[in-house]
Amino acid sequence: MVDQQERAKLVAGENAVNRERPEVYGDSHPKELLRIIVEDGEHLLPLENQHILSADQFDQKTLLQLFRLAAKYESNPERFSTPLQGKILISAFYEPSTRTRLSFESAWHRLGGDIMSITDRSTTGIAKGESLSDVGEMFNNYADCVVLRDTQEKSLPEMRSSLRIPIINAGNGVDEHPTQAMADLYTIFKWRPALVKKKVLKKDKIKMGLIGVPNRMRTVRSLLKIFSIFPEMFDEILIFDNGDESSDEILEEMQERGLNVKRATNSFDACLPDLDVIYINAIAWVGDSFETYGGDDYKLDASMPFKEGAIILHPLARGEELATDLDSTPHNWYFSQARGAVFVRMALLTCLVHRKGRVLDVI
Ligand code: CP
Repeated sequence: MVDQQERAKLVAGENAVNRERPEVYGDSHPKELLRIIVEDGEHLLPLENQHILSADQFDQKTLLQLFRLAAKYESNPERFSTPLQGKILISAFYEPSTRTRLSFESAWHRLGGDIMSITDRSTTGIAKGESLSDVGEMFNNYADCVVLRDTQEKSLPEMRSSLRIPIINAGNGVDEHPTQAMADLYTIFKWRPALVKKKVLKKDKIKMGLIGVPNRMRTVRSLLKIFSIFPEMFDEILIFDNGDESSDEILEEMQERGLNVKRATNSFDACLPDLDVIYINAIAWVGDSFETYGGDDYKLDASMPFKEGAIILHPLARGEELATDLDSTPHNWYFSQARGAVFVRMALLTCLVHRKGRVLDVI
């Protein structure tokens, strides 16, 4: 029932959708990426029929070609509505998700494919003790690709063991979230396309602050792995993890790969005015469950002394660590990051199921 006040608003047209407001801040058009990266589909060939398990399995050329295809989709989404026609995706999310599930499903729909979605394990045979391996065996008969999210790291290898169609890791417990890392890197390249060039100039290199515990956050672990494929992008990466030594091994491995990453020795407040990119996440895993990390030590709001032009990234969902007053500032690139993930996933899915011939000019 619409009350008098609501009726007055309707009459006055106050409930009209506000299209003046930008969809996202920091949504730079990806045309610069299209200019800099020359299309060459050959580097996408190895993706056909591949499982996507870890950010480690990519190289520079494959990622750049995927980002080019993502930029092509983002620039002109209406142009490509049928490449996945006749293909079926199983979207199996045994752990809650807003962005990953819906962006994968949006990506598949936008390309003309069909979807079967599982959002609750209790509606499948798993509730009666069926193994993930047996579920995977059935999926072979029903679909062309599977996207899996689960609270447990081991679920991914279990399901993969029986699959003869590609599976994409959409977050497996504390382990990895490779397509999130791809979306994060795509956002950074859109923000500063000069980072894509073979020789990155010193003035373009970024000083990054990363708030999170690599060993307890799958997004941060995958992000460092994908960054280590492009180490020349960074002046330095400072980790703010309250000295959590559980991440020492990962940090050492990343340093060995050539990434200039280290635990910050100064406080976050002292470092903030020099940071070009601030990545923050607050969901840290404990076994199969999670807790909020950071407390009062790491909270961002619009009153803080950000460097001019600095951007904030967050995989979301957010908590108190990211104040909503930042949403309407130019530092907000986290909504653009979430939006871009749709196009990155469109690009990846197209390649996994042999349909890139329908969207590329040069193969
Ligand atoms: N970024 C991310 O993984 O968000 P969801 O948990 O909503 O999928």
